[in-house]
Amino acid sequence: MTDAFDSLMASLDGPMAVVTTAVAGERAGCLVGFHAQSAIEPERYCLWLSKANHTYRVALRSTHLAVHFLTEDDLDVAEHFGTLTGEDVDKFADIDVLDGVDGVPLLERCPHRMVLTRVALLDEGGDHVCVTTECLEATTSGGFTPLRLSQVQHLTPGHEADERADPPTG
Ligand SMILES: Cc1cc2nc3c(=O)[nH]c(=O)nc-3n(C[C@H](O)[C@H](O)[C@H](O)COP(=O)(O)O)c2cc1C
Repeated sequence: MTDAFDSLMASLDGPMAVVTTAVAGERAGCLVGFHAQSAIEPERYCLWLSKANHTYRVALRSTHLAVHFLTEDDLDVAEHFGTLTGEDVDKFADIDVLDGVDGVPLLERCPHRMVLTRVALLDEGGDHVCVTTECLEATTSGGFTPLRLSQVQHLTPGHEADERADPPTG
């Protein structure tokens, strides 16, 4: 069953994105492969954040997020946000960011993005939590070729999905 599941997911070869958020001056962001449109009207978008991540813990308290869709030229951005953790480093210290709503960092390098308002959070017991959002603002500089899972799966995540913070948050 797991082999077939993994094979199906590999064949889909989903597009990669960086999710950012902020609360009370604390900024966070990580690479995500789990994200999708979930309604047409209103314009809903779901992101699934790992309970292991610093970004998840900040998102628990934040009202807004941004999702940046990566292009085939953004492997270095994926590596930066997917292999480092905000517990150890400030991922925004050495890159150009704009200040979005509620201080949510917007990556200048990534023009294909949406600013999102959080509307619900679902923890059904798995290792990732579903953050349902509504699109507040979408921007793009035109069509692009997404960076896909097959191009980043060699990266070692800053946190494995079964790690938990101490004290635990969920
Ligand atoms: C290919 C790949 C896909 C990933 N997909 C997700 C994801 O969908 N959701 C998530 O929360 N983390 C995902 N991660 C893990 C985080 O990006 C990674 O652990 C990151 O370093 C966490 O940073 P943080 O602790 O600052 O939040 C993925 C990592 C990689 C390499």
